[in-house]
Amino acid sequence: MQESKIKVQTKVPLRGLSTFKIGGDASHLFMLENKKDLKDAVAYAKENDLPIFVLGGGSNILFADSGISAFVIQVLNKGKEYKKIDDLHVLVTAEAGETWDDFVKWTIENHFFGLENLSSIPGTVGASPVQNIGAYGVEVKDLIESVEVFNIQTSEYKTLTNTECAFGYRNSFFKTEEGKNLIVVSVTFTLSLVPNINISYKDLSNHFKDIVPTPFEVRDAVIEIRKGKFPDLNIHGTAGSFFKNIICNESDIAKLKADYPLMPVYKAGSGFVKISTAFVLDKVCGLKGFRIGNVGLYENQSLVVVNYADATSTDVREFISKIKSIVEQKTGIRIEEEVILA
Ligand code: EPU
Repeated sequence: MQESKIKVQTKVPLRGLSTFKIGGDASHLFMLENKKDLKDAVAYAKENDLPIFVLGGGSNILFADSGISAFVIQVLNKGKEYKKIDDLHVLVTAEAGETWDDFVKWTIENHFFGLENLSSIPGTVGASPVQNIGAYGVEVKDLIESVEVFNIQTSEYKTLTNTECAFGYRNSFFKTEEGKNLIVVSVTFTLSLVPNINISYKDLSNHFKDIVPTPFEVRDAVIEIRKGKFPDLNIHGTAGSFFKNIICNESDIAKLKADYPLMPVYKAGSGFVKISTAFVLDKVCGLKGFRIGNVGLYENQSLVVVNYADATSTDVREFISKIKSIVEQKTGIRIEEEVILA
């Protein structure tokens, strides 16, 4: 084999690269520090007939115990720049390997506002459009101007507009068959130079009561609220919300709503509603804190699956299929994973 231009590691444990702390080995791993190396990396994978697997912060993924036989590109390229476009707005571009929350903190410190409700979410900037991350009444699609990508098939860079990203609830063009050929290189956000506070989400309005907070205070509040709901990643393995909230026909949940009037129901477009899976798991199915061996639903937030100690991927998969069948038996609803099963 010809000497490679890039440094590729073999048989790398994925456990340490995922916040679930679960998984076998990656057959090949390349740490992408500079976006210019993408061409060589993709060429290497093609020459060696290896499928490409793009890894960000590993915070939304459950790797198999058998690992993956692929060329894993760990996206680590960093860099930020900004350009004021008028008195009220600034375009901020961050490279995909920036840690999401470090980036959010940096924007607020520079008085570029809009991302404060998305504080403290684990993962990278590059994963944010793929998943259309959202929390506390804000989705990242509301702030994304464009996304720079590298096309694996054509080996070309391209910039997608917000519309071309086809964002949906925890969904985007990047999750489609065609979109899977794209590696996110950098993301450009339109942020506000003046505070644009959104505390409509219940947890935040309860927190602030009648006070109008600053963006700094909103960030601090979100960090505090999340601390109460999500396990400390330094102590337990988890990938945050394991399941998506449920989107269904309003008529399908009429009986459930009648039986559980306190169940939160949000409009989700013509005839559709979004209901809280956490509520269904907790209040309808009594599963909050439910545990089998080392895997359980977190006692402070039932949507969160926790690896309490050395659980395997098989343990988690068996656990979630049990949860799904209990929910289906009780409500007729099939809940879906938000976490990627690799
Ligand atoms: N609830 C319960 N029991 C629980 C937790 C929640 O009954 O154990 C009910 C409450 O009625 C609450 C409602 O569920 O009002 C909603 O719960 P919460 O506000 O905690 O949010 P969520 O819908 O469960 C979503 C996102 C989170 C995001 C939060 C905050 C998804 C899948 N999850 O959770 O995002 O941080 O809202 O905005 O959309 C993630 O995607 O990984 C994630 C963490």
